[in-house]
Amino acid sequence: MANNSLKGRSLTSLDDLSVSEIFQIFKLVPKMRKLVANRKFAKTLEGQIIALLFFEPSSRTFSSFATALKRLGAQTIEYQSLLTTSSAVKGETFSDTIRTFATYANGLIIRFNEAGGPKKASEITKIPVISAGDGAGEHPTQALLDFYTIWEKFGKLDGLTGLIAGDLLYGRTVHSLLRGFSKFKNNTMYLLSPKSLRLNTKDLKGLKERGLNLVEIFSEKDIPKNCHFWYWTRVQKERFSNLSEYKKVKTKFILDKKLADMYASRNTIFMHPLPRVGEISEDLDSDPRAYYLHKQMPNGLYVRMSLLSLIFG
Ligand code: NCD
Repeated sequence: MANNSLKGRSLTSLDDLSVSEIFQIFKLVPKMRKLVANRKFAKTLEGQIIALLFFEPSSRTFSSFATALKRLGAQTIEYQSLLTTSSAVKGETFSDTIRTFATYANGLIIRFNEAGGPKKASEITKIPVISAGDGAGEHPTQALLDFYTIWEKFGKLDGLTGLIAGDLLYGRTVHSLLRGFSKFKNNTMYLLSPKSLRLNTKDLKGLKERGLNLVEIFSEKDIPKNCHFWYWTRVQKERFSNLSEYKKVKTKFILDKKLADMYASRNTIFMHPLPRVGEISEDLDSDPRAYYLHKQMPNGLYVRMSLLSLIFG
């Protein structure tokens, strides 16, 4: 593969990628989709063992990474609930746990419960580390699949108007998504959240300085009618120390047919990284604009396959 600048690299923030690298990943997606449709296994990653180290619960990210690696011919070491099933239980440090898996594997895919975990791992070992989400930090591969989904629909990643709703304070998928959008031009994002879950001031300021237009709104009636996409998110219960605070805000904004009929356009697509826990009503699932189940989920597999083949291929 000529000009593959991703080979051997780690990915712990969306900021690790340039615009041309994002498109380099997208370019391989049709090939990966075809491989999956034909139930084929590639040999791209043959001979490699990749460890999936998940310190926090996961369904889609874990299984799509595991599937992607197997489809590409790699073997895997798979840890879910690592905090209760590895030597971490005995009090082993994070650094020693990482050194251990790096001794056996050719790459690490890490979901950690605090921001910065995968980045720290990438500084401990020379093998590539890919973040599968770090606390309330980032979730770069989710953003890649989100961007692919938007790009596939609209053919561009600039000049877009989006609505991002829910938990903007703790939602790591949003943090990567916004970083990504700031790399492209003329994008305006409306941020709808409860006041207590606003995007933190540092990110708000930093992203605006990079040229991203951000408009905070606190009521559904301020949603503009011309959005290309709505990106809904779950209020991140696990980040709250006070559960009664969580209960106050958990379903403040619900995306249902009524809201869609009032404020979305015929072309607005509805996105969500999932899992949803009440903030998107199932009455919307059969709407052709609902992209969370039928587009984002499968794209997650293809995009991760593309990324993995560039990093490890
Ligand atoms: C998200 C996550 O883990 O950050 N899920 C995912 O990976 N698709 C979103 C969430 O948990 O709310």
